[in-house]
Amino acid sequence: MIEILRSRRSIRKYDTRSIEQDKLDILKEAVLRSPSSKGSQPWHFIFIEDKRLLEKLAQSKDHGSHFLSGAQLAIIFCGDERKSDVWVEDCSIATTIAHLTAQSMGLGSCWIQIRKRTHDKQTTAGEYIATLLSLPDHLKVESILAVGYPDEEKRPTPKESLDYNRISINGFEKKG
Ligand SMILES: Cc1cc2nc3c(=O)[nH]c(=O)nc-3n(C[C@H](O)[C@H](O)[C@H](O)COP(=O)(O)O)c2cc1C
Repeated sequence: MIEILRSRRSIRKYDTRSIEQDKLDILKEAVLRSPSSKGSQPWHFIFIEDKRLLEKLAQSKDHGSHFLSGAQLAIIFCGDERKSDVWVEDCSIATTIAHLTAQSMGLGSCWIQIRKRTHDKQTTAGEYIATLLSLPDHLKVESILAVGYPDEEKRPTPKESLDYNRISINGFEKKG
């Protein structure tokens, strides 16, 4: 796991290779194995490979979502707010697990934030996606993970650049 974390970066450029079925199956298994508060599993995951839908989802936000049009897969992380008051945390954990699982299989991926983001002046990004995908009212979108084979190389973050001042032992210590 630490080797996956050491090489992990957000990848926003993808080549045209489609993702093999066995890798799609592993991504599905991985998200369903995510921990959730009280085991309530308040999530619903929507896997999208349809090019037309990927293009439309890429328009979810003004900034930070357009690269999705070049991805082979979008995973939409939805939470059922009736099932848990911490669905945001549960969906965030599942998004992270999918991001790391993708990395472990040679795929690149990037989180696209949807909750609390806007599509335009009138519409939230979540409302735009809910309309596009005919989501029921109780499902709220936390995030999208864009996935594909990397078409960019990113340097791993060097260990020397990690800010160990952000860690305190046995209580808060003011540092730096
Ligand atoms: C909660 C969260 C929201 C993010 N939202 C976006 C986003 O909407 N668009 C995007 O391109 N990247 C998004 N990212 C990716 C971050 O920009 C990225 O993780 C950060 O710049 C560090 O780069 P690295 O992941 O390559 O180390 C998000 C990451 C997190 C954890």
